[in-house]
Amino acid sequence: MKTLKHFYNTADFRREEILALIDLALRMKNGQLTKDLNGKSLAMLFFNPSLRTRVSFMVAMQKLGGLAIDLPIKDGAYSFEFTGNAVMNQGAIEHVKDAAQVLSGYCDAVAIRSSELITSAKESAEVLSWDELKNDLVIRAFMKYASFPVINMESNVYHPCQGLGDAVTMVEKLGDTKGKKYVLTWSYHPKALPMATPNSQILAACDLGMEVVVAHPLGWELDPQIIYSMTQRAKQSGGSIKFTSSMEEALKDSQVVCAKSWGALKYYGNWEEEKEIRGGLINWIVDQKKMDMTDNAYFMHCLPVRRNVEVTDDVIDGDNSWVYDQAENRLWAQMAVLSTLLC
Ligand code: CP
Repeated sequence: MKTLKHFYNTADFRREEILALIDLALRMKNGQLTKDLNGKSLAMLFFNPSLRTRVSFMVAMQKLGGLAIDLPIKDGAYSFEFTGNAVMNQGAIEHVKDAAQVLSGYCDAVAIRSSELITSAKESAEVLSWDELKNDLVIRAFMKYASFPVINMESNVYHPCQGLGDAVTMVEKLGDTKGKKYVLTWSYHPKALPMATPNSQILAACDLGMEVVVAHPLGWELDPQIIYSMTQRAKQSGGSIKFTSSMEEALKDSQVVCAKSWGALKYYGNWEEEKEIRGGLINWIVDQKKMDMTDNAYFMHCLPVRRNVEVTDDVIDGDNSWVYDQAENRLWAQMAVLSTLLC
């Protein structure tokens, strides 16, 4: 872990390092906590809204004896330029090269949320192609210029803190996760959402040696390069990964069901067309009838959730729902990351 400066993607770390973070998170949750970040500080830059990530990072730093500084970009900092050699005669006021180096002088790490698909716009942001978004320009600019660790609080491509938090939850609840059937199912949502969260959730389940099944409608395939990485991680852990376009088929005999929506890759930048097709997929909802096909599976969702659109109330409020524990475990997972990166 010490050789790697940033926490951008869980797959940047060896599986043993991820398992060590999970173990540390659970030990911290069980009271083995030292305030080892005394005098250390974390700058948090939010280019998008957040409830869980924002509050859990602030509380994590406080519990570890450090300080978190929340900089919502719209109100708390200048607008940034990210590209090299830019002639800054347009709207951007400060180059990230300067901001990152200045923050490095004050703080011990920076955490960035920058997902260009999350927006207050009616459908989804007018964004460029997936190939361009995939470069994760904003967080990579910070990684390039900062002389301290950069933590990904959700980029276009990965949400490693969510993935790690989910892994902590599954280990906590199931004990031995090897061979357990984990289903990540696409669910209907009125808006096209980023695929960072499912990417990291699936990668985490692959690291746990689970029998991973990903269900999504035809046309909603994940990025092939990331699927390759998932397949490699599953192999390394002794697990497996399969894909299907039938939620019902996926759910059979499963022990964990995680619902998540995302926008179809091939329609990036053309959301009106994507929306028309997506409109025919409202039956991709997790309800009790579908959960009855499982092996009494537990239900997970990263939240925020559109109730009775992605999942029915009876499932999310039922005895087998882990969603609030899953949200809490973001805190312990991030404490493990902060403590490991900053000590
Ligand atoms: N799951 C998650 O990252 O939630 P927030 O967007 O509220 O941070």
